Amino acid sequence: MTKRVAILISGGGSNMIRLVESMTGDHPARCVLVASNDPAAAGLARAAAMGIPTAAVDHRAYKGDRPAFEAALQSEIDKAAPDILCLAGFMRVLTAGFVQPWEGRMLNIHPSLLPKYKGLHTHARALEAGDPEAGCTVHLVTPALDDGPILGQARVPVQPGDTESSLAARVLEQEHRLYPMVLERFARGDRERIDL
Ligand code: GAR
Repeated sequence: MTKRVAILISGGGSNMIRLVESMTGDHPARCVLVASNDPAAAGLARAAAMGIPTAAVDHRAYKGDRPAFEAALQSEIDKAAPDILCLAGFMRVLTAGFVQPWEGRMLNIHPSLLPKYKGLHTHARALEAGDPEAGCTVHLVTPALDDGPILGQARVPVQPGDTESSLAARVLEQEHRLYPMVLERFARGDRERIDL
């Protein structure tokens, strides 16, 4: 049976677009919702233009009450009844209360070679450390930040003269390859790790 996928975004949604575009033909999944914590996220309009239902739950309206924000977000997600939840540039930390019911069914893409550089400013940290390579990781989400079982990684050599933005751009290209590949396999029930 076709799997239903909801995607959570906070910004431009370039990964979301690649995921949506990949879910055609004999792909085992279809996107049923794109939701954001920011009503102004550019990706929402892009999703709507592709004919995908969208929802926004503004986290600023729930200042200081993360569980209430998450409950409102969960209720929007429930309406779409997804089987799989994909975080794609979703920049809110999720509590265990939100994550646990989704464990084993929620994926995230993170712009580093985890377990290195959990959290923010991943490219700057890789450059500062003098790492010869950077990259991105798709992993299952667990309550610990950027920490779940790894489903795939793509590696990118660091070039002499790289800046945070030049490296981020090259890693993003690889994110766009990796995430759709991992999602397709995952939706087929295959958890074998992909390395690009
Ligand atoms: C991507 O680089 C993604 O890996 C990163 O945000 C960007 C979103 O871009 N995610 C994180 O940093 C999560 N901690 P996009 O909106 O164009 O897909």
